[in-house]
Amino acid sequence: MNVRPMRVEDVIDMQACNLQNLPENYTMKYYLYHAMTWPSLSYVAEDHKGRIVGYILAKMEEDINEGEQPHGHVTSISVLRSYRRLGLAKKLMIQSQEAMASIFHAAYVSLHVRKSNRAALSLYKDTLGFSVKGVEKKYYADGEDAYSMHLSLKS
Ligand SMILES: CC(C)(COP(=O)(O)OP(=O)(O)OC[C@H]1O[C@@H](n2cnc3c(N)ncnc32)[C@H](O)[C@@H]1OP(=O)(O)O)[C@@H](O)C(=O)NCCC(=O)NCCS
Repeated sequence: MNVRPMRVEDVIDMQACNLQNLPENYTMKYYLYHAMTWPSLSYVAEDHKGRIVGYILAKMEEDINEGEQPHGHVTSISVLRSYRRLGLAKKLMIQSQEAMASIFHAAYVSLHVRKSNRAALSLYKDTLGFSVKGVEKKYYADGEDAYSMHLSLKS
């Protein structure tokens, strides 16, 4: 299994992976926007035949208020079911976080997660050390609340 930076030609396979794994989906334009604007922040995991089995789509936050520190944001991450629990999501997250800090001097990384998503919550909290910053009521289209989570990238 190999983790490498996303390329523009990966967008169709990344979108296919996203559609299989999550109800939160994005236009092709939005994938391309990430690839063109922050090419070092999004990564894919591929199998031995070069098939994409997981991805992280990430960016720098654009709408920051005055006085706020620059920070990264994870738009989406997923791994195909039969490739889970192999450490791929952890690897994808760490690669992106390292690039956010070293290239863009991000102070922290943020993301949203469904309150009911135990696997992702465990990945973020227990494995990566994120903490819950707040709850965003009815954040998702089906009415579920989201935890807003942060991880400091300052050493
Ligand atoms: C969440 C998700 C990305 C995790 O991917 P993964 O590659 O299986 O995760 P990793 O193998 O890197 O797991 C790292 C750690 O996260 C935690 N974790 C991952 N899956 C878990 C599960 N099903 N239950 C409990 N803890 C879990 C564990 O602590 C794990 O470490 P361990 O395997 O040593 O116990 C994957 O389950 C997925 O794609 N889910 C559907 C999409 C999704 O929910 N995306 C997140 C949206 S916010």
